[in-house]
Formats: sequence, structure tokens, C-alpha cells
Amino acid sequence: MRLFVAIQLSDEMKAALCATQRELARRGVRGNFTPEENLHLTLAFIGEYPDAEAVMEALSAVDFAPFDLALEGLGCFGDLWWEGLSGSDALLALANKVRRALAERGIPFDRKRFSPHITLIRKASGRLPGIQPRPAAMTVSAFSLMRSDRGRNGMIYTELGTVEGTAPIHAEQKG
Ligand code: 2AM
Repeated sequence: MRLFVAIQLSDEMKAALCATQRELARRGVRGNFTPEENLHLTLAFIGEYPDAEAVMEALSAVDFAPFDLALEGLGCFGDLWWEGLSGSDALLALANKVRRALAERGIPFDRKRFSPHITLIRKASGRLPGIQPRPAAMTVSAFSLMRSDRGRNGMIYTELGTVEGTAPIHAEQKG
């Protein structure tokens, strides 16, 4: 099965991303728009791997504190258009922990440098217009192991498991 590790987005963030997609469509941009339910932020792409249980076991060892993310603006890799994120230090740290946990268990993943983005449109037409995307922010308190299947009408992403962050212990709570 085809696996990847991702942050599931809040409804508010997905709604903001869809509003931005609609604005782009209104300006005549064409392409494969990511459906609202498929919008996500990938931390690591594993690809074909048979043992989801082993992956979940590796991911369960990742310890992180919840953190905030905010949408930051549009960018593109060729004809793949995406929205970027601020609050990236904690995000980068989480992606590194996830990747280290996979590497330690010998689980293969795409080693390309982590470049945090949420894909809005694939095969986008024309050039990125200078629009102000709809702002949104969320607290990331968990990440998920996802399975990706090719459906009749596009990709189907299924959550196979989640790992919750743990709040840091404040000084006054320590013994
Ligand atoms: P993308 O949005 O930039 O295409 C599921 O395919 C998720 O894994 C997508 O978010 C995709 O990123 C990401 N991904 C990262 N590396 C990938 C790769 N080598 N092949 C396919 N998807 C990849």
C-alpha cells in the first residue's frame, strides 16, 4: 500500500484554502484542484510499503508538543501550486522527528528536503496571480499515517492511525 505521514487540517483551515482555490478559479485558473477533504500537509512520503503496523509503531515513538501554524501565502513548484505555512520551526522539528523515527526502524521514505506546503492545484494553467489568500491558523495537536489509493475520481486518502502531541510540563507543575 502507498503510505505517507501528514498533518490533517482543521475545518477552518480547509475552508480558507477552498476560498483561495475559488478565487483562483474565478480568475480563470484551470487545473486539478485538490478536493477539500484531501487537503493536508505532508511530513514524509513513504510510498509503497506493506507493513502499516510497523510504521505506526515507529511513529508512536515521536514525542512533540502541540504548536500553531498559519497560512502564509501562495507558491509553486512548476505547475503545482501550493500554500505555504508560517510557524515553521516547530513544524520542521516535527518533520525531522518523524523522518528520524522512520529511518531508525529502516522504513524507507522520500529523502527530498522537507519543504512544507499544502497542494492546492496540480497541472495549474498560466501564472500565479498576485492575490491575497484567505488567512487561517490552527493548532497542530496530532499527525497521521495516511494511505493513498487511486479512486475512480481521483485520490482517496484514508487515515490509518494518529499520534497525539503531549503538552509540555510547566515549571509550576513539576514536583
Ligand atoms: P505533493 O502534494 O507535493 O504532491 C501524497 O501523495 C502526498 O505525499 C502529497 O502531499 C505529496 O506531495 C506527497 N509526496 C511527497 N513526496 C512524494 C513523492 N515522491 N511522490 C508522491 N507524493 C509525494
